[in-house]
Amino acid sequence: MDKRQAREWSPRKFVEEALYKIDCTIEAKEKVVCAVSGGLDSMVVAFLLDRAIGDRLISIFVDHGMLRLGEAAEVSALCDKKLQGPFYRIDARERFIKALRGVTEPEQKRRIIGAEFINLFKERALSLGDIAYLAQGTIRSDVVESGAAIKTHHNVGGLPEELGFKLIEPLRELYKDKVRLIGKELGLPEAILGRQPFPGPGLAVRIIGEITAGKLAILQRADAIFREEMDAAVSVQQLWQYFAVLTGIHAVGIKGGCRHYGEVVALRAVTSDDAMTALWAELPAGLLDKVSQRITGEIAAVSRVVYDITSKPPGTIEWE
Ligand code: XMP
Repeated sequence: MDKRQAREWSPRKFVEEALYKIDCTIEAKEKVVCAVSGGLDSMVVAFLLDRAIGDRLISIFVDHGMLRLGEAAEVSALCDKKLQGPFYRIDARERFIKALRGVTEPEQKRRIIGAEFINLFKERALSLGDIAYLAQGTIRSDVVESGAAIKTHHNVGGLPEELGFKLIEPLRELYKDKVRLIGKELGLPEAILGRQPFPGPGLAVRIIGEITAGKLAILQRADAIFREEMDAAVSVQQLWQYFAVLTGIHAVGIKGGCRHYGEVVALRAVTSDDAMTALWAELPAGLLDKVSQRITGEIAAVSRVVYDITSKPPGTIEWE
């Protein structure tokens, strides 16, 4: 984008142009399938396509069980209600836990989740028959980071070739801030617009070591407490991401007057413009204290809470 284009850019114009391009690309009777992940990018793509082609868009949400507390239900309810075309939620929570049994290596987790996702999505998409396009929520930073091979990012990398569908990626040139503006233009609710970037493999890369249903439940609760307190206290607009991590370390604490070895939860909050670099956020001590007290008080399995004070670089935003 040159300077003149950047000056003239507006979400309304982008949407108008995107609708025009989609109209020129997709023929009158052709159908499009879209993988909805629960994150902002894929929701914006689904809503854009919904506006462009209405009930010729078929949306599929593979619920791998690694989302934050309550998110899967929220995404399903929204898609069910707002999208004109068919929406399928595939409940694959048990299948993913099984596939990840015994796996501790982070990139291996990503590969397994990516492969399972592709299998499930492919199975369903091919059963729909007569699909011409796959719509994906790839954005500029996905392209840049995949190019740099920093991480084996799971999104839906291998899908187009495997499915034989043509690919449509209307957000490919945009960074997250603009995607958010477009979501707003398309009428997405605040709960989705304000959603932080979230890795495709979700909480699987925030549980260090093997993933179990029990650990997932602990992390979901700790993360929900952290987010609840943050949302009530901090001007969260300024923060790029904040979340909890289950570190896999056990530390001694005192519960009910006895020594108790429990999980160590790490809290992470960063500011960033584009996720390429990030600074750890200086959260108020009183807020951290409240979160720590609530997590250790409300979740029996957790004995300690620590705060991550590493920026990127040298750290990364996620722990795995
Ligand atoms: P890192 O941890 O590399 O994260 O500093 C940069 C941004 O990318 C997100 N992230 C991922 N997104 N699949 C994704 O789709 C992944 O495997 C993945 N790993 C990290 C991370 O949340 C941050 O916004």
